[in-house]
Amino acid sequence: MMDVGRHPKIKLLTYSEVEDVSGFIGNFKVKIRKKARYVDLTECTACGDCAVDCPVVVPDEFQQGFSSRKAIYIPFPQAVPSAYILDMENCLGNNPIACGKCLESCQKNCIDYDMQDEIIDISVGAVIVATGMDVYDPTRLDEFGYTKYENVITSMEFERLICAGGPTEGHFVRPTDHKLPKTVGFIQCVGSRSKQRGQPYCSNICCMNTVKDTLLLKDHYPDVQSKVFYMDIRAFGKGFEDLYMRSRESGVQYIRGIPGDIIENSSTKNLRLSVENTLTGKFEEHDLDLVVLSVGVEPSRDGKLSQLLTLSKTSDGFFMESHPKLKPVDAPTRGVYFAGCAESPKDVKDSVTQASAAAARSSILLNAGQVKIEAITSRLQKEKCTFCGLCARVCPYHAIIPPDRKAKQYPVIIEASCAGCGTCAAECPTDALVMHHFTDEQIMSQIEAILAEKPKDKLLTFACNWCSYPGSDNAGTSRLQYPASVRIIRTMCSGRVDEKFIWHGFRLGAPIVLVTGCHFSDCHYINAVTWTQKRIEKLWDKLEEKGIRPERLQLDWISAAEGIKFARVMREVDELRKKVTLEEIETTKKLLAEK
Ligand code: FES
Repeated sequence: MMDVGRHPKIKLLTYSEVEDVSGFIGNFKVKIRKKARYVDLTECTACGDCAVDCPVVVPDEFQQGFSSRKAIYIPFPQAVPSAYILDMENCLGNNPIACGKCLESCQKNCIDYDMQDEIIDISVGAVIVATGMDVYDPTRLDEFGYTKYENVITSMEFERLICAGGPTEGHFVRPTDHKLPKTVGFIQCVGSRSKQRGQPYCSNICCMNTVKDTLLLKDHYPDVQSKVFYMDIRAFGKGFEDLYMRSRESGVQYIRGIPGDIIENSSTKNLRLSVENTLTGKFEEHDLDLVVLSVGVEPSRDGKLSQLLTLSKTSDGFFMESHPKLKPVDAPTRGVYFAGCAESPKDVKDSVTQASAAAARSSILLNAGQVKIEAITSRLQKEKCTFCGLCARVCPYHAIIPPDRKAKQYPVIIEASCAGCGTCAAECPTDALVMHHFTDEQIMSQIEAILAEKPKDKLLTFACNWCSYPGSDNAGTSRLQYPASVRIIRTMCSGRVDEKFIWHGFRLGAPIVLVTGCHFSDCHYINAVTWTQKRIEKLWDKLEEKGIRPERLQLDWISAAEGIKFARVMREVDELRKKVTLEEIETTKKLLAEK
C-alpha cells in the first residue's frame, strides 16, 4: 500500500466514492466524491496530539470493538496516507462550549471543521472493479449464541486477538476473564454452504484460515487444545494439504459435524457444545473455553457501482465475468475488469493473481491506443426512426444516447459500447435499427428456408450463441439423441428474437416456435434476457387474443453445459409439435394472412 501511495504514476484517492461513470471503453469519464476528512492532509504529520486531547471515545471498528478510538483517529496503523481523519458522526464539533479540543491542540492548524466534500472529474481508458467483500454477520441467525455469550467470537475477532498489533498486543485471552483459554473450538461454514443459514456457496477461504489459526495457536501456546468442527475440509491449492496435515499432526482435533447448539455455564462462562460426529455416528459433548465462528464472506455492498458500469451479478450477488473460462477478469462492459472478491470469494493468492491479470488486460488496452470491436453492432436508419427512445431504454449497455424529439435529435449508437445483443433491433417498433450480421432479412430468410417444405414436420427453434446453442453442441458431442425435426436459428442473444420472426414462422405453417436462451443470471448481455421473457409473455397474450393456442410458442432456458436438458426439452417440445393438427396450422395461417 505504501508503494502504491508513493508511485509517481498512481494517484491514490482514499476516502472517496464513485458518483458517476459515463463514456465507453478507452474514454470513461468518472466523477468522484472525495469526502471531507476535516484534516488538512498536506500539513498533518500524524503527531497524534489531537487524538490525545479528543474527549470522545468510541469502539474501534478495526479492532472489532475490542478496544476504543477517539473521534479524531487514524483508521488503522498501516493506513495510507498516514494522517488523521475526523469522524463527524461522533465529533462534538467546534462549538467551544461543546469541544473544539483538537483544533486547540493541533500546532499545524490542520483541523478544518468547514471542509467540504470535493467533486473530482477524471478521464480513464479502463476501469478495474476491486470492491472487496463483506463478512457474514452471525447476529442474523444467532444459532451459536454469538449475541448471548461473550466467549463466542468470530474468526475476524480471533485475528485481532492473536495479532501483535491487536488490542491485547498479541496476548490471546478470552473476553470474559482476560485469561488464556485452555480449549478453543472452531465451527466451520458459519454463513456458508447453506441456503437457510447464510449463503449457499462455499466461501473458499475459511477452511484454510482456520487451519492457519490452529497452527498459530499451537505455535504461540502449545498447551492450548484446538478442536475444529467441520462438514469437510477444502484444502485445495498449492501447499494447502500439507498445512492441513501439519495442523492434524500437531494435535488439533478435527471433528466431522456441525454443532447443534452451545450452552454457557453462567458461573465459569465455559461453553458446552453438542455435536453429532458424522464419522462415528455418535452424539458428543465438548467443553470449551472459547468458540470461534469461522464466518463466510459475502459480496461487498457496492452501492450504485453495478448500475453505473452496467454490470450484472450472478445469483449469489458477486459480479459476473464476461466468460467464466475465456474472459474471467473481463466484465461484460468493455474496458471494465475485475480483481479479487468483487467477482467471487478468493484468498490472497487468487486475488493477487486476478489483480495482476486485470492490470495486464487493461494495459494491453491502454497501450494499443485504439480498440478493435466486433462488427456485430446495430445501425440506425434515420428515415424509420420515430424518436420513441425505446432502443435506448432497453440497451443493457447504455450504448444508445436517447433521442430528443423536440430538438429532432436522433438516437446515437456508441459502437464501441454496443455488444451486439440485438435487443434494440428486436424492440424497435418501426424496424429502424439494423443488426449487422443478424439483420431482419437474414433471419426471415432462414425461417422461410426452414419452413419451405413440410413445415408441419419442423420444430422452429431460436437459440442464443452463448448458452442454448452450445447446449445443442454439448448434446451432439455427448451423442445424445434429440428429434430430427429440430431446426435451429442462432442469434447472439435470445433478446434478438423479434416478435415478427415468431409471427412469420406461424404464418408460414410452423406448428411450434421454440425460443431458448441463457438462464437469467448467465445472459452474456447483462439483462437482455429479461426483455426476451417480457416479449414472449406479451406474445402469449396476443396469441390467446387471436385464438391461437399460446402453448404453440415455447420458451426455455438452457445453459452451455446442459446438453441433457437440451435433448430433453427438444423431445418434450417435439411431442407438442406432433399434437398440432394440420387444420390448426391452416387456421393460424389464414388468421395471420388476413391481418
Ligand atoms: Fe443467451 Fe442473452 S446471451 S440469452
